[in-house]
Amino acid sequence: MDKKGLAFTHAQLRDIVSDYPTPFHIYDEQAIRENARRLLSAFGWCPGFKEFYAVKAAPNPYLLQILRDEGFGADCSSYAELTLSAAVGLKGENIMFSSNDTPAHEFQKAYELGAIINLDDISHLPFLEKTVGVPELISFRFNPGPKRTGNAIIGDPKEAKFGITHAQIVNAYDDARRRGAKRFGIHTMVVSNELQANYFVETARSLFALAIELQDRLDIRLEFANLGGGLGIPYQPEETPLCIEEISRAVEKLYEEMIVENDLHPLNIYLESGRFITGPYGYLVTTAVHKKDIYKQYVGVDACMAHLMRPGMYGAYHHITVAGKEDSPLDRVYDVTGSLCENNDKFAIDRQLPEIAVGDLLVIHDAGAHGHAMGFNYNGKLRCPELLLRPDGSVKIIRRGETLDDLFATLDYPGL
Ligand code: LLP
Repeated sequence: MDKKGLAFTHAQLRDIVSDYPTPFHIYDEQAIRENARRLLSAFGWCPGFKEFYAVKAAPNPYLLQILRDEGFGADCSSYAELTLSAAVGLKGENIMFSSNDTPAHEFQKAYELGAIINLDDISHLPFLEKTVGVPELISFRFNPGPKRTGNAIIGDPKEAKFGITHAQIVNAYDDARRRGAKRFGIHTMVVSNELQANYFVETARSLFALAIELQDRLDIRLEFANLGGGLGIPYQPEETPLCIEEISRAVEKLYEEMIVENDLHPLNIYLESGRFITGPYGYLVTTAVHKKDIYKQYVGVDACMAHLMRPGMYGAYHHITVAGKEDSPLDRVYDVTGSLCENNDKFAIDRQLPEIAVGDLLVIHDAGAHGHAMGFNYNGKLRCPELLLRPDGSVKIIRRGETLDDLFATLDYPGL
């Protein structure tokens, strides 16, 4: 028996596949909207609360538009992400620009859009001043170093390249003020795909403590604390999803104790989650094209690591449902492989699945964030289309698949 549900029935999926051949990514608009509303309602106690959707997780303007409709801003890390956000009508302080090792033209774009610029280093202040100008509102990304432990994907904070140290904090804000900044915020991101609620509560605690410190030492009053992204999702069916209401209640309690008590109210709380917002509501749909029986049993599918890199890159688990066989016993053990000339191009290793026949549709779960976005063209593979399952059951193509012409567009060679 399969332990994870799908947004569509087998018959619906067969219909979709008859119009849009596999492989493709498909997103469930209704579920994304409901999830977005749940997050906003969980933080309803905090008047300035805002979620800036991490565009890197699914940089598709149709998805950004849906999230914008729901009241989200955008967290951007690059010129392209800023451009996409502007295209859906986001501008000004509805965009947070959190990048690192930032080129001048990217700062320029963020500045022109009036985005909140979140600096990854103190040296970026004079760089910004020289190249673009110092905006009125400045934020820094804080790296707690040895004070916190990170997790596997994002790494140990003291080994991570991101942010500024605690020892640099006072200087950083003082310098920003000297260079003309008048409004201030703070940001951190310590964990990625974390399922322990306490991590986020501790993140809030550390930023609230810095708000108090900056008030005491520099008489600077922060406008916002951005707790970053990193909220995890249960990729494994046995995992327990985070309860966002529980996190919010714990943050509210800390807010009362630390911010209200110290007369620092209002301090807006921001999040910039990607995975938590769209991850569970996107699927990679692929067809079994080959079966191979050597030292192990393989099922070869028509998608590959170029369409979903996470299993190959991080050894990440992504649940697989064989459409129409949800009630069949999981009495086979397969490696599910893509066609790259890379032995780690496997969507699953030693996975218990029902017996698979060539032609079966395999649905790979939790691909709605850091899925299509991390696609690439190695071995000349083409990125597949993205589809949107609308609340009325209709399907809209929101990005066509790449063609050979796209692949060769940067080559100027006779015959191509
Ligand atoms: N904000 C910043 C500054 C980030 O660096 C990230 C992710 C996010 C927000 C969004 O994180 P989320 O809430 O989506 O976890 N490609 C990886 C994750 C890399 C994380 C990098 N930063 C993956 O597939 O798991």
